[in-house]
Amino acid sequence: MRVSQPATVVDVHLRAAEAAAALRADVRSGLTASPKTLPPKWFYDDRGSALFEEITRLDEYYPTRCERQILDVHGDDIAAATNADTLVELGSGTSEKTRLLLDALQRRGTLARFVPFDVSERTLRDAAEAIRVEYPGIAVHAVVGDFERHLGALPRGGRRCIAFLGGTVGNLLPDQRARFLAAIATGLGPADSFLLGVDLVKDVDRLERAYDDRAGVTAAFNRNVLHVINRELGADFEPDRFDHVARFDPDAEWIEMRLRATMPMTVRIAEVGLEVAFATGEELRTEVSAKFRRAGLTDELTAAGLELRGWWTDPAGDFAVSLSGPAGRP
Ligand code: SAH
Ligand code: AVI
Repeated sequence: MRVSQPATVVDVHLRAAEAAAALRADVRSGLTASPKTLPPKWFYDDRGSALFEEITRLDEYYPTRCERQILDVHGDDIAAATNADTLVELGSGTSEKTRLLLDALQRRGTLARFVPFDVSERTLRDAAEAIRVEYPGIAVHAVVGDFERHLGALPRGGRRCIAFLGGTVGNLLPDQRARFLAAIATGLGPADSFLLGVDLVKDVDRLERAYDDRAGVTAAFNRNVLHVINRELGADFEPDRFDHVARFDPDAEWIEMRLRATMPMTVRIAEVGLEVAFATGEELRTEVSAKFRRAGLTDELTAAGLELRGWWTDPAGDFAVSLSGPAGRP
């Protein structure tokens, strides 16, 4: 007998036209600034999402493996500490490691609903559908949106664990991160919790190798943002004329990815009506990836109105998963 399963619900809070307008605004402000910058969320079209998945399998890129190990070893502790019936995942991508949390919550007997949330619609829909098939007993409610703008659109009710894995919080600049964490704190109900994966400060060589792999996958991921702008905004970037640069900044304690012009260029961005000049050697910052220490993260969580309740690392101490909740809960 076939039992029919409910279809995946998908809420779209970021339609293509709105995303294109946001990209135009970011390109206009970022490429007319000095130094030039672009926000990392525009890496993730279908190709960028696939390149990120390839990065997660590289020898040099340790964060995914370390976080998976933490979720594998401590998934049941996390499930016991949250007792969540709803697992929300921000920046969910393929939700590959998330299955370890779904399994732990199922073993605990509390899991009823999964809510993946991502800006990249195709990847999100594919992941949500795969999880619906693999976990027939739960409701899957996907949300297409920007976690800096649409947290208010998350489904409410139940006992929610909001997971933000992979270290993606490190891709926000400090002021963006403070606003984001405060918005999380405001949105949490008294029984909800926030599970946050962060990459930790470590040896500079290992850090830089993780962002500049021998096979050049991260370089292709970095240049992909130029392909996105060419396609979406009718620009004429020649991505191969930019070198990939990844450097650790010891003061900010973050990796900075940049694209360095290898010759003088003037790039036309038709849909923004902009011409942008690059001098030889000029760099465009495309991403920061902050690395954390327990004390600093605890301070940031506290400042946002969150209280640290759990902290797990891999044996080598390369990556951490923290659990927090609204401060002042009795
Ligand atoms: N959580 C997964 C994927 C990390 S890659 C993991 O740990 O492996 C970062 C993900 O965040 C991508 O899927 C990207 O599309 C998404 N993302 C980046 N910026 C975003 C934003 N502002 N709002 C929503 N999703 C975003
Ligand atoms: C998604 N995010 C946590 C990745 C990181 O490590 O900052 C994105 C990435 N950039 C280069 N490699 C991977």
